[in-house]
Order: sequence, then C-alpha cells, then structure tokens
Amino acid sequence: MKKRNVFFALVLTALLLVFGVWLLSFFRSTLSTKRIAVEQEAGSPQAALSIAQPFFNPPRPEDAPENIRAEVMLGYKIMTETKKYAGEYVKNDLSCSSCHFDGGRSRNSISLVGVGATYPRYRSRQDYTVDIAMRTQDCFERSMNGVAPALDTQVMQSLLVYMQWISKGIPIYSKLPWALPSDLGNPHKPNVEDGAKVYANVCARCHGEEGQGTPIAPPLWGDGSYNDGAGMNRITTFSVFTWRFMPKNAPSLTQEQAIDVAGFVHEKPRPKFVSTHADKIRQIIPLPEEK
Ligand code: HEC
Ligand code: HEC
Repeated sequence: MKKRNVFFALVLTALLLVFGVWLLSFFRSTLSTKRIAVEQEAGSPQAALSIAQPFFNPPRPEDAPENIRAEVMLGYKIMTETKKYAGEYVKNDLSCSSCHFDGGRSRNSISLVGVGATYPRYRSRQDYTVDIAMRTQDCFERSMNGVAPALDTQVMQSLLVYMQWISKGIPIYSKLPWALPSDLGNPHKPNVEDGAKVYANVCARCHGEEGQGTPIAPPLWGDGSYNDGAGMNRITTFSVFTWRFMPKNAPSLTQEQAIDVAGFVHEKPRPKFVSTHADKIRQIIPLPEEK
C-alpha cells in the first residue's frame, strides 16, 4: 500500500515538472514576442525597414558631394541632352528626358527617382535578373532606337552614378508610389478614328501634324521616334503616360481618349528594333539535369 502511494507521488511530481517547464517556455516565448513588438514601435532598425515609406525628394545634381559631382552632372546632361552628350549611342531625335522629364527627377513623368534602390530585379523580357545598367541599355536600344553603351563606358558609368544619386535615401526594394502603372485598368478598346481626332485637336500643335515633332515637343512616330521594340510602343504604356502627363503640365484627356490616341499613334510607322547585343541572357553555367 505504502509503496503504491510513493509511486503515485513520484508520477505526480514528474507530471507537474513537465507541465511547469512547458508553462515557463510558453510565457517566455510570448514575452519575447512582445518585446520585439515594443522595440519595433520604439523605432528599432527592423521597424524602420518595415514601416519606412519612400519619400519623393530627389537631391539636385549640383548638390552631389565633390568626389562624384562631375560624374553626376554629366549623367544629368546625358539624360536631358542625350544626342549632344551620348550621340554615338542615339539614332533618333529623343532625349531620355522626353519620357523621363527633367532627367527622371520629375514626379509627373516616368520618374527615375529611387530606381537605384529597386535593382537588380527579375524581368520577364530577359527571363533573368537584370541590373540597372542592363535595364538602361534597353532604353538606348529601343526608346532611343540606338546602340547599347557597354558597362565600362563613360556614358553608362555617369548615368549609373547619376541615377544612384537621385535615389539617395530611398530604402532598398521599397515600393515606389510614383512608379508608372503598366495600364489604366480600363477595358475600353482603342478606336483609331476617334484617336485621330484627339491627335489633331490636342497633340498636333506641339508634336506636329505628322507626328514629326516641333521645337516644342519631340516626335511621336517616324524616323525620329522610338522603335517598335520600345515600352512606349505598347498601347497600355502609351495610354497611361498620355492620360497622366499629356499635354505636358496640363493633362486633360479622359482615359478613353488616351486609349484612342494611343491606338491611333500605334498604327503609324516607326523604326524597327534591331538588337545590338544579346537580348536573352543565355544560360552560362549549365545546371544539373533534373531527375
Ligand atoms: C520613348 C520614351 C522613353 C525614352 C526616350 C527613354 N525611356 Fe527609359 N523607360 C521608358 C519606359 C516606358 C520605361 C518603363 C517604365 C516602367 O516600366 O515603369 C522606361 C524605363 C527606364 C528605366 C527603368 C525604370 C524602372 O523603374 O524600372 C531606366 C533606368 C530608364 N528607362 C533609363 C532611360 C535612359 C537612361 C534613357 C535615355 C538613354 C531612357 N530611359 C529613355 C521610356 C523611355
Ligand atoms: C503643350 C505641348 C504638348 C502637347 C499639347 C502634347 N505634348 Fe506630348 N510632350 C510635350 C513635351 C514638351 C514632351 C517632352 C518632354 C520633355 O522633353 O520634357 C512630350 C512628350 C511626349 C511623349 C514622350 C516622348 C515622345 O516623343 O515619344 C509622348 C508619348 C507624348 N508626349 C504624347 C502626347 C500625346 C498623345 C498628346 C496629345 C494627347 C500630347 N503629347 C500633347 C508637349 C506636349
């Protein structure tokens, strides 16, 4: 009888011990979760990363630190007067600033503020992860109907330093609220005849009756324009851009008008895209065969 009581007492103690240890670990884990939460509210580095919003306030090129200022200034000039400063890579009448207004420093355009913080990035066009230099080469070959400058050229290096400078203070891989959406999300189908009217009434006075450009605004089609491989040659991209930013400084179209005029311009002739370097990045290191 006595032996059995001792046995039960032992079992009970063991159970209590196990329960006690579990209880302790339970409270410790909730305690530590709480502490992290409190630290985040108090502004720990982790909290800063998860809460920080990118803030649109690009520094001026002329305010760059002395050791990079010349390079930043040259990058800015290449953006705004591309033919003059990077003529050997350009075969049309556009500048980077024709689409990335004020060297990409304008919020009311395809802004490049923060772009330095969002690469390398996967792109389906290359089916590969591309860096910002490779992305820039694409705009030379397509938007500028030109030739891709090599990574170690003065032109490319200055552009990279410039784009990093105007991305100062933007947390890496943050989602930029000012990035251009890929389409308007409007199901309207482009009507080319209506688009022709919009063009004649609204666009022609700056971009020219024949889309050839004027001293006020760059060409929209023809030899002086972007080629058929450019992002702007997509009706979706063209219509978002036009609806948001055109006429420059006084956008006024309805979404339907923007889609119609995009359809109209899309039918016009323009240079054909010719690749000047490998577009798809081929597999360099053979991967082991899947079983
Ligand atoms: C005809 C219009 C046009 C011209 C000219 C142009 N671009 Fe672009 N650029 C675009 C479009 C459209 C995109 C894609 C925007 C998007 O996907 O958000 C783009 C994207 C870019 C990007 C990547 C931006 C990002 O957020 O991923 C870079 C970098 C860039 N351009 C640099 C340049 C440079 C440098 C030049 C001049 C050599 C240039 N572009 C000329 C239209 C143009
Ligand atoms: C008040 C003059 C003005 C009017 C009107 C105007 N634009 Fe523009 N547009 C400009 C200027 C200027 C630029 C180049 C911006 C720069 O260099 O800073 C531009 C650039 C563009 C670009 C990108 C560069 C290129 O040439 O491919 C497109 C696309 C465009 N405009 C479409 C249109 C469309 C479509 C309309 C009519 C709905 C229109 N614009 C009306 C002044 C105008």
